[in-house]
Amino acid sequence: MAITVERREKPAAAGADAENDVGTIMVVGATGTVGREVVRRLTGTGARPLALVRPGRGEQLVEEGVGHVAADLDRPDGIDAALDGVDRLFLLTRQTGRQLAQEEAVIAAAARAGVGRVVKLSVFRAEETSPLQIARQHRRAERALQDSGLQHTVLRPVFFMQNLFAMVRDGTIATAAGEGRVAMIDARDIAAAAVAALTTVPARGRVYTLTGPDAVSFDQVAEVIGRQSGRAVRHVRVPGEAVCERLRGVGAEPWFAADMGLLQGMLADGYEDVVTSDLNSLTGIAATPLDRFVSDFGARFTSDPAAPGRPG
Ligand SMILES: NC(=O)c1ccc[n+]([C@@H]2O[C@H](COP(=O)([O-])OP(=O)(O)OC[C@H]3O[C@@H](n4cnc5c(N)ncnc54)[C@H](OP(=O)(O)O)[C@@H]3O)[C@@H](O)[C@H]2O)c1
Repeated sequence: MAITVERREKPAAAGADAENDVGTIMVVGATGTVGREVVRRLTGTGARPLALVRPGRGEQLVEEGVGHVAADLDRPDGIDAALDGVDRLFLLTRQTGRQLAQEEAVIAAAARAGVGRVVKLSVFRAEETSPLQIARQHRRAERALQDSGLQHTVLRPVFFMQNLFAMVRDGTIATAAGEGRVAMIDARDIAAAAVAALTTVPARGRVYTLTGPDAVSFDQVAEVIGRQSGRAVRHVRVPGEAVCERLRGVGAEPWFAADMGLLQGMLADGYEDVVTSDLNSLTGIAATPLDRFVSDFGARFTSDPAAPGRPG
């Protein structure tokens, strides 16, 4: 049985420049860390963003006046209707055991709808042979996109700086990353890359590996947050099992908690100690350094986090 699709669209601006009009751009994951910022930035380009939100969530969109369509990605029967009239699509889903099925459903519906371009948010080193399930399932979704024949671009970011909000607790940041350095990236820069890939840069199947400007250790992270927040913060080394245990304790799916414990051990060995210029080549902007990120979001580090970390 098809579900009812609630749709509220923003009309094209009167006098919009027809040459620059890239049509309606659906943002999947529009209420999350990256997606909210993609929607916000698209409103500044003259494009018509259309946020896909879970039924009942439209009112939580940041941008007033942004069109939205309600659909549950776990109900594929509603996705075709949601994609009606969509020209381009940003595809971001949460890291759950349903992620691959959700992305395959959206990709198949996008192909049926004749969507002109898809930009998929993936993960650093998405590979079939990765020890990390998150990397394997993203790679399978990338492959589904390649096999679909849709024009597309893939963005593979490293660790988000925004993960740090939930990692600093009671003046400590506990990781299994040891001395390992991570080229962490501000999710706002990922959104900038997504907007460029959606609106200006041709979609030729390229994969962009998105990183921050420097690889930093968690000792340095603690020092920067402590200095800028005026609260002492120290990096405490814990085993990967403790990371896994903590994430399970805040409701993470077991496979994901295990992935994160494993990932942090890989970070200790330099897994994300890699800086690329892909963000700059895609957008022309310089990646945000950690100290600017912490300064911009200072208030988030002076109050205790409400949500569990979701480092991926
Ligand atoms: N964090 C990292 O360090 C990192 C690094 C590299 C790659 N990634 C990748 O980035 C992605 C996560 O990005 P993010 O942090 O921006 O995500 P997020 O904040 O968790 O947002 C997820 C979005 O998906 C929506 N959503 C979830 N289930 C849905 C459903 N059944 N139907 C419709 N919408 C649904 C959420 O809506 P609600 O608001 O209604 O829940 C939200 O808008 C993952 O694919 C992850 O692998 C993360």
